[in-house]
Amino acid sequence: MDCEFVQFEKDENVGILTINRPKALNALNIQLMDELDATLDNIAADAEIYALIITGVGKGFMAGADIATMKPMDYEQGKAYGIKGCALFQKIEDLDIPVIAAVNGFALGGGNELMLSCDVAIASEKAKFGQPEVGLGITPGFAGTQRLPRIVGPRVAKELIYSGRVFGAAEAEKIGLINKVVPPEELMETAKSMARSFAKMAPFAVKYAKKAINEGLQTDIDHAVKIENDYFGKCFSTNDQEEGMGAFLEKRKATFTNK
Ligand code: CAA
Repeated sequence: MDCEFVQFEKDENVGILTINRPKALNALNIQLMDELDATLDNIAADAEIYALIITGVGKGFMAGADIATMKPMDYEQGKAYGIKGCALFQKIEDLDIPVIAAVNGFALGGGNELMLSCDVAIASEKAKFGQPEVGLGITPGFAGTQRLPRIVGPRVAKELIYSGRVFGAAEAEKIGLINKVVPPEELMETAKSMARSFAKMAPFAVKYAKKAINEGLQTDIDHAVKIENDYFGKCFSTNDQEEGMGAFLEKRKATFTNK
């Protein structure tokens, strides 16, 4: 698929996906959704990408779902749009590799929800966050009512969603919404450095850790621990477990092969 609004490049084992619709602050219209979906499928099929960075061009990371697209919708259309957006962001959460949001600017509504579907987030000092939907007469619709309370806790999430207020990167870090704030000129290098630190680990171990965390968070602790037991066991059928432990015992650096 030729993409107008999504750029993708590889830097060794790190993929960099850049949302490029700056005239609308990268607002998520149907075309951008379809381009993102196709790009994510390509990324999922590429066994040489060990970590992914998602960022945006210009002042916006993503200023939300496209308000002009949503304005004329009725119940069925609104619901279908929500289902489409949630499936798209679930695809990000379900990628086997770690995904880093490098938040360059406005991450509002669907843009904040995009960031929430990533594993970790680094933000520029210029970034702004919020779920302003109630001011538009709607609820967050791309899983913000579900992922935000799971990440920052229900009390903080409710205050943010009910007020719709926009807040800065320092507050986002303080409430645990993001991992780190950096000056704008250091954003991409910090994200790449973090991505490389993930990419040099045993890929199966990172993938199984991600699955154990994400699947375990959806269930009770007894079942969650069983999920971990299974992924922990699976590591012992990989070459990289033999290599990682062998390298430690032989006092040399491990060379992982993703097998
Ligand atoms: N949808 C469609 N277009 C958008 C947009 C959006 N979410 N956000 C910005 N734009 C467009 C503006 O309409 C404007 O277009 P024109 O130049 O053609 O007029 C362009 O992007 C630049 O925006 P502004 O002139 O408004 O820029 P600003 O710097 O003055 O303000 C802003 C920036 C505070 C982010 C402001 O654009 C804004 O409030 N945007 C809307 C944010 C929002 O409410 N997002 C939630 C959307 S609903 C949602 O996401 C639902 C969901 O959960 C799925």
